[in-house]
Amino acid sequence: MSYYRSVGVLPPKRHTQFRQPDGSLYHEELMGLAGFASDSALLYHANAPTAIVSSEPFDVPAQPSRPNYPLLPRHFRTRELDTAGVDAVLGRQALVANADIRISYVAADHPSGPYRNAIGDECVFIASGSATLETVFGALAIRSGDYVIVTATTTHRWIPEEGEPLRALVIEALGSGHIHPPSRYLSPRGQFLEHAPYCERDLRAPSEPLIASAGSADVLVRTRAGLTVLTYEHHPFDVVGWDGSNYPYALNIADFEPVTGRIHQPPPVHQFFEAPGAVICCFLPRKTDYHPRSIPAPYAHANVDSDEIMFYLDGDFTSRKGSGISAGSISLHPSGFIHGPHPGAVEASLGVERTEETALMLDTFAPLEICQAAELCEDTSYAWSWSSNREEKI
Ligand SMILES: [Fe+2]
Repeated sequence: MSYYRSVGVLPPKRHTQFRQPDGSLYHEELMGLAGFASDSALLYHANAPTAIVSSEPFDVPAQPSRPNYPLLPRHFRTRELDTAGVDAVLGRQALVANADIRISYVAADHPSGPYRNAIGDECVFIASGSATLETVFGALAIRSGDYVIVTATTTHRWIPEEGEPLRALVIEALGSGHIHPPSRYLSPRGQFLEHAPYCERDLRAPSEPLIASAGSADVLVRTRAGLTVLTYEHHPFDVVGWDGSNYPYALNIADFEPVTGRIHQPPPVHQFFEAPGAVICCFLPRKTDYHPRSIPAPYAHANVDSDEIMFYLDGDFTSRKGSGISAGSISLHPSGFIHGPHPGAVEASLGVERTEETALMLDTFAPLEICQAAELCEDTSYAWSWSSNREEKI
């Protein structure tokens, strides 16, 4: 992100004396990427952000992964993983992972405690439900269809609204680098270009400070070594103002302007973000291809350099007709397997003028391994669903 924002009260010049009503100094915190060589935010705390009083390990069960071997396309029914009484941090169930990225599913109905991911950015896609995301930068109202970029080391907590659980796909960046808009959408100085399918006005970020009640606070911190509970003398939500270009934000899929064409457009036109070792896209309702002899269904393709995840959200998923895919499904089409529409889908798409389907897509450039939760909700018949004798295999 290179989109400057300023929230709350700030002194006119950085790193100068800025005093509280009682005459004491506010405490600066510079949250900067790549050492001091990239985007940053400068926050003003009422209390020292350094004052910890204890550090304790926090043990959680490991969520190991195993290679996708023998090679198979996969179908996971995430709704079968819905659980009650969990929050959006500790309730995550890892589905697939590699060295760059981990993708988890969560259905949260409880507030999380304060949490900070020091490994990398998190991209939390909200499939259903709504929540308040409280952060050290301020609060954000979150709704279905939001991509929420929680920047690395941002202390935050998720508070789902009562009623429907907050169902989300959590994409954690594990490699070096961060999750951000595709570089090709941006000018050399970081402004969104005219051809970009969204721009600065579509990004929602905290707009006023969030001050928590006084007192100490436990913050769960994720590092490569595991989870640690750091107890702070003062709650970290004590920031009266901040500015800079490194902060959490949300982008709703309804604010993305789909790119269409006379013939079938490739998935990169549907891209929202790039991440270390991955790209994040979403297929949205749109006018379909309008060449008089166009084929709106996608063509079969071999993803030579990537594994492809699809998270099916809404619509009748006509290209997957007869495969068992439905809302809440995730498919994994790995490199080495040629995938495409299911039998009859190409012919059925001819003459169709609109698609109403919504599906998130994520391509990783290293093979994805399978985690235990994914195996628990796997439809093992999916691999044979393109075959003319699939009934016998099932
Ligand atoms: Fe594909």
